[in-house]
Amino acid sequence: MIALLGATGAVGSRVLQALRAHGLEVHAGSRTTGVDMRDTRTLADFFADAQLVVNCAGPSHDTSEHVALAALKAGADHVDAGGDGVRLRAVPAGLVAVFAAGATPGLSGLLPRVLARGFGEVHTLTSYSGVLDRFSPAGAEDFLHGSAEAGAAWRDGARVAQALGRTRDIVLPHLPRPVVALPFLDEENVSVAREISLADGTWYTFVEDGHLLAALDRSPGLEPHDAIRSLCGAASLDVAGRTPYAALYVQIDGPAGTRTAIARADSAAEMTASVTVQAVLAVLRGQVPSGSHTAAEVLDPAVVFELGVVVEDRPIADLVAVEEGAL
Ligand SMILES: NC(=O)c1ccc[n+]([C@@H]2O[C@H](COP(=O)([O-])OP(=O)(O)OC[C@H]3O[C@@H](n4cnc5c(N)ncnc54)[C@H](OP(=O)(O)O)[C@@H]3O)[C@@H](O)[C@H]2O)c1
Repeated sequence: MIALLGATGAVGSRVLQALRAHGLEVHAGSRTTGVDMRDTRTLADFFADAQLVVNCAGPSHDTSEHVALAALKAGADHVDAGGDGVRLRAVPAGLVAVFAAGATPGLSGLLPRVLARGFGEVHTLTSYSGVLDRFSPAGAEDFLHGSAEAGAAWRDGARVAQALGRTRDIVLPHLPRPVVALPFLDEENVSVAREISLADGTWYTFVEDGHLLAALDRSPGLEPHDAIRSLCGAASLDVAGRTPYAALYVQIDGPAGTRTAIARADSAAEMTASVTVQAVLAVLRGQVPSGSHTAAEVLDPAVVFELGVVVEDRPIADLVAVEEGAL
């Protein structure tokens, strides 16, 4: 049996539906059903008969580790849609803990690994990730507590602070409007850069030039709960009357040429949930070795094709041109 924590949330409800569609027995729990992720006793009761715990509850920045330890103590494997930057020092023999099984981090760390397979030397990597969607308060709080350093990039094989500023009027394939790209570097990016021996890497999060961009600029000066409210309100205004989307673009360049991967989904929660489900299936199939990992480190890169990811031997800019030509 799988115990799913946070089953009523944007991510958790999608994970619940998908796991049940795979014929798996899932017990759904959350705060409203009396399972409090901050309370060890209710967690122990909820996890007691579980073979695997899936954590989709949030905010997760200060709870992921605690929930994972409770799952392992109950003798269950663990998969977490959140848990950016969490790595357990010790995991009981034979058990598995997989963190950051979401879109960003998660799929964002898997795509460069997919592209780099059999490609040879990778000189540069450019990545854009963004959404036009509502922000859940949990997601906004975790975003503010994430490991991203604004303006930083990877240069000559090392982290460089304040390497570059934002760029406006970026046109990306399939997006309805140009976007503003905000450079950042987080722990997942550094881990990818090291793993593929990257020389230069630039990661951007992108947003449309709207309310959310203004709220992001305001948030450092606000009290945390005001910043969360402001981000959620701004994201809702931007998406009102529009079709939401989540998109991720990664391009690598090297002596062998250029490769680009594009992932798209109808929402951030959809993209996250699909990665969480793949991580659950990999653990159930025994494909993940015992220990503490991130999803990007241990998922078979081939799963990205089950998520509808498209890989092309052309730069992102050419794919915009192809799209315009098709229109
Ligand atoms: N890596 C990524 O790309 C990515 C993207 C999106 C989200 N996430 C992560 O996924 C997680 C969920 O995000 P979301 O957008 O789905 O949030 P959400 O819609 O706000 O859902 C939050 C869920 O957590 C539950 N919850 C809140 N406090 C709880 C508590 N004390 N005990 C037990 N359950 C509690 C809620 O239950 P009730 O309804 O009963 O209150 C609800 O089911 C977060 O950790 C977020 O960071 C990751």
